[in-house]
Amino acid sequence: MCRVYSVSNQKGGVGKSAISANLGVGFAKNGLKVAVLDADPQGNLSSSLGVDDIDELDNALGEYFFREIHGGQIDIDNYIIHNDEGVDIIPCNIKLAGLDFDIMKSFGREYLLRSLIDKIRERYDMVLIDCSPSLNMVTVNALAAADSVIIPMEASYLSMKGLDQLLDSIDLVREKLNRSLEIEGIVINKFNPRTNYEPEILERIRTGRGKELKIFETKIPESVRAKECTAHGESIFKYDPKCKVALAYENLTKEVLAHDC
Ligand SMILES: Nc1ncnc2c1ncn2[C@@H]1O[C@H](COP(=O)(O)OP(=O)(O)OP(=O)(O)O)[C@@H](O)[C@H]1O
Ligand SMILES: [Mg+2]
Repeated sequence: MCRVYSVSNQKGGVGKSAISANLGVGFAKNGLKVAVLDADPQGNLSSSLGVDDIDELDNALGEYFFREIHGGQIDIDNYIIHNDEGVDIIPCNIKLAGLDFDIMKSFGREYLLRSLIDKIRERYDMVLIDCSPSLNMVTVNALAAADSVIIPMEASYLSMKGLDQLLDSIDLVREKLNRSLEIEGIVINKFNPRTNYEPEILERIRTGRGKELKIFETKIPESVRAKECTAHGESIFKYDPKCKVALAYENLTKEVLAHDC
């Protein structure tokens, strides 16, 4: 059975792409068949896993949506890039950004991604969808296609404010589009235990929303290694398998698998 995760938070720079990439490779290292789907015109997930010149790609998510909406031929294999770390990538580039209007006026506009996932579901154990920092139509598509949402967050006051808006959107999607959508939990990224206010914020999330929301035990530490691996187009497991960030992702992978499998 394939499980589909939407990695979502409308707040920018919290680690959606990093978590999609590293958790994806983490799943693959556990012997699972994994696809990561880039649903952000910035294409950061694609480039962070080594896809070069993303804006030159002909077959990326924008082209897929265009054909799905306007009735072109689609061979899904043309949209899948095999990566040497064991995950398949469905890339995205800037072409998706010009499609808002096409998507808005298309029939079944909330379910375009679900129809893509239906085409690949049988091949994979896990699919991770990396969303853009927006609650736009493509993000709604990701939430409508997913079984569960992973919410990356930084332990900061501003992140906490955005969380309520995200949870409201998830509730709305659940009510209108995808009744069985679950929230997997919050992953705290760029964690720095030496900063005084972070433990306090974690405590606030726990006491405020904690009853309904799981916060994963594993926090991804703030580290320059995490930045560097993105720039190198490699997961942390390949870039520096012994560093504390790699260890944290290994533990996060185990936690998610223990929760779901
Ligand atoms: N644990 C970490 N420690 C330090 N830097 C990190 C960590 N995780 C991610 N980063 C860096 O922070 C930046 C933002 O991360 P990332 O792109 O994953 O966030 P995002 O939520 O996907 O951003 P966007 O909202 O723009 O899509 C990147 O430069 C990334 O390399
Ligand atoms: Mg991103």
